[in-house]
Amino acid sequence: MIDQRLLPGEYREVSFESCTQVAEAIQRMVVRGAPAIGAAAAFGMALAAQTSPAGNSDELRADLVAAAGILQAARPTAFNLSWAVQRMLLESEGPAREDVNQLRASLLDLAQRIADDDVQINRQMATHGAGLMNAGETVIHHCNTGALATVDWGTALGVIRMAHEQGKRPHVLVDETRPRLQGSRLTAWELDQYGISYEIITDNAAGFFLSRGEVDRVFVGADRVAANGDVANKIGTYMLALAARDNQVPFFAVVPTSTVDLSVAEGAQIPIEERDPSEVLQIEAQGAPIAPAGAAARNPAFDITPHRLITGIVTENGVVYPPFELNLRQAVMESPS
Ligand code: MRU
Repeated sequence: MIDQRLLPGEYREVSFESCTQVAEAIQRMVVRGAPAIGAAAAFGMALAAQTSPAGNSDELRADLVAAAGILQAARPTAFNLSWAVQRMLLESEGPAREDVNQLRASLLDLAQRIADDDVQINRQMATHGAGLMNAGETVIHHCNTGALATVDWGTALGVIRMAHEQGKRPHVLVDETRPRLQGSRLTAWELDQYGISYEIITDNAAGFFLSRGEVDRVFVGADRVAANGDVANKIGTYMLALAARDNQVPFFAVVPTSTVDLSVAEGAQIPIEERDPSEVLQIEAQGAPIAPAGAAARNPAFDITPHRLITGIVTENGVVYPPFELNLRQAVMESPS
């Protein structure tokens, strides 16, 4: 993995040798972004299989169930995490899986397939999403949804990247994305690599630019989408969607179908991760603290954007428009499970 906590100051690759280490890396956000977490968790399961001393398939399956619990507890909101872990568990079931070493090998194969598929899926979404954009558009982008947040290419940022490669010359207003600053630290770093024009804005400036008519479109990713189209994404997405709607600016979520959780009827049922308040309090401004010592803080990592504020959801199977309840389910069903 690339240790994303160090960017943009330092690029460092790190590797892990056990499922527990992978779970810790997900929890501490060495790796982050829903599809990247999903692929990492799949390899965490493959590692659990490789390192398990099990002598037969039943013992190995018991170890895998334990590993699944550890990985799924690492971050609760991103659906791709449990989606990938459940796929790995399913792979281990069934009478055809009796040879323990064959089972280990097939789990590693599946983890690699999940990772490879993600790249392909991102490119499909990027093509569908870039088709929505006209030349010279200015877009607002929230958090980081690029190659770092996926296995490669990206979701919302992947759309912008594809539009750039098509010669459409998009300009990006990059929400800095408090408190962990995934926008200014990671998205800006990626845009530099791709040679895409951008400016970083504070999250609370987005409404200003939207109201001035300076923004053509908003693109965000998602960590989990409910069956009715409500989107859980990085904290601040809801306010951005409200401001976009008030100014009639189209608002798109770019989402692989592996992020859609049809078992959850609406956004209110999606578990929202609350992270340590220190993430809010400990940013230092030129060496000076930004809050009084001992100040309390709340730190929800995600919020819910109701589907009524969303113009469309870009998936690998095309752009889904309302009624989301019906059309999203159809898009999910088109993907092989
Ligand atoms: O807390 P993070 O940095 O993992 O949150 C990431 C996001 O909110 C992204 O928008 C989401 O995972 C989609 S990324 C392809």
